[in-house]
Amino acid sequence: MTASPARTLARTAAAGLALSSPYWLPRALVSLRVRVFAKVNGPEGVVVPNEQVGPERFAELYAHPAANGRSKGAGLSDLFWYWLSPGPEVHQEHLEPGPRYDAVARTTSAILAGTSAELSAVAARCAARVLDERLPVRGAGGGRPSGGVALVRLRDLMMPVWAEFFYELVFREPCPPHARRLIVDNAEDVVNSLKNTRLRHMRRRTRLTRYLLRRLAAGEVPHELPAALGTARDRAHYLQGTFFNTAVVQMSEAMAHLLLVLARRQDIQRRLAEHPDDDGYLGNVMNETLRMYPLFGIAHRITGADIDLGEGASYPAGTVLCFDYPAYHATGHQDPEVFDPGRWERLSTKDAHHIPFGVAANRPCPAWRLSPLVMRAVTRKMLGRFTLYSSVSHTRSIPHRAPCLLVRRERPLPRHLVVAALAALRVRDRWEDVGRSVLQFVLGTWMVVDARRLGLTRTWFATHDTQGCPLPSAEPPGCPRHR
Ligand code: HEM
Repeated sequence: MTASPARTLARTAAAGLALSSPYWLPRALVSLRVRVFAKVNGPEGVVVPNEQVGPERFAELYAHPAANGRSKGAGLSDLFWYWLSPGPEVHQEHLEPGPRYDAVARTTSAILAGTSAELSAVAARCAARVLDERLPVRGAGGGRPSGGVALVRLRDLMMPVWAEFFYELVFREPCPPHARRLIVDNAEDVVNSLKNTRLRHMRRRTRLTRYLLRRLAAGEVPHELPAALGTARDRAHYLQGTFFNTAVVQMSEAMAHLLLVLARRQDIQRRLAEHPDDDGYLGNVMNETLRMYPLFGIAHRITGADIDLGEGASYPAGTVLCFDYPAYHATGHQDPEVFDPGRWERLSTKDAHHIPFGVAANRPCPAWRLSPLVMRAVTRKMLGRFTLYSSVSHTRSIPHRAPCLLVRRERPLPRHLVVAALAALRVRDRWEDVGRSVLQFVLGTWMVVDARRLGLTRTWFATHDTQGCPLPSAEPPGCPRHR
């Protein structure tokens, strides 16, 4: 019996749809996910730049003294508190302005302090240790020889480097393997849930909290921690959130972007490998990477008072302002969609539309000085050892964790093998994208609904003031944190 023409047509159409799915399904699901998020979170937030506040006034609004609220009063905060748990209420990123924020910000800056030479040396040492352990030279270090080639995900490769680095800054001693495992497990869990590629696993995260509590109880944290963080658990959560979550995640993501840029552009990589001391060019490549792939998609603020910039740009107190980094970075530049490190020879980062670390007047990143410095040190270690190749897509959210082929410099691969590997990587990437986009849609929806149900910010501020003290209705006044 032969199939009817209609059935044959339907089968052909279904096969065509399935085979072409890498080209349309991921994009369709991303926009559906955005719509679901907006629906669950409700109509909230003014995205800037917009018609009233164009790119030329973006920085003015961002720096406005009344654009100062951080968590209270925005449904969006529930979601960020959910992803950055445990202890989101003492994470510097989430603290409301006031004495408690000032004390915490001062402590973070003190822990991140160091001379350029010291910080670079620690980063280089951590990178060398992790790279030698993961991809040992033939017969060296007692590890299994890597055969000169390894297929890695750059973000995964970078996680232990930064876990060790920030452990050293916090504890002022080399990082033991079990602590590194706890930190990496915690940071990976946070970033995977943020990217909607996994659900959050709180037990993984609380293992690190328990470890930090033990170290604090033993008096083994050689920094003075803010008295405004009233309990040992608050202090453990502060260290966990700022150094073993945000710091490790941000640096691993930033390095994954930078190294993926190099892996996809052999001309840039060759120039950097041949001139490892060309600080200016590496700086331009880093600036261009952070311009095109800023780590923040959106940073939000809740206005603490009315803002009126004139010409129709006015926002009442309580407005949630969403500062859109990629949109801002895509304005004020010639051919913004082109990756061109050379543009930074003609531009100054101060005058350009370029805020990879936020705006100086409104809670900028405390690691704005440290991050580029230590990224340079780690990049040099990578390029000194390996040639990097990749053909995968490169997006700001980088959910694939940057697959990349590493080839030892002293043992180059024949050209035809590199070409074959790149072709295979590209095909795998396309198909992984299909499966992952379905997963992200399902897990993202689940987490948004769960975060809404838990309402962590709402619940916290129902019983606490903005300085973390229980409200009079919840406990008698006299909170020590006010003193
Ligand atoms: C290349 C790496 C990094 C980039 C591009 C980056 C970017 C940013 C940006 C854009 C903001 C400001 C968002 C806003 O206005 O709300 C920010 C805030 C912050 N970053 Fe980073 N960051 C990086 C690395 C780090 C590291 C290593 C740490 C380590 C402690 C860190 C800790 C923080 C904290 C605590 C805040 C909140 C600041 C506040 O509200 O006072 N970041 N980061």
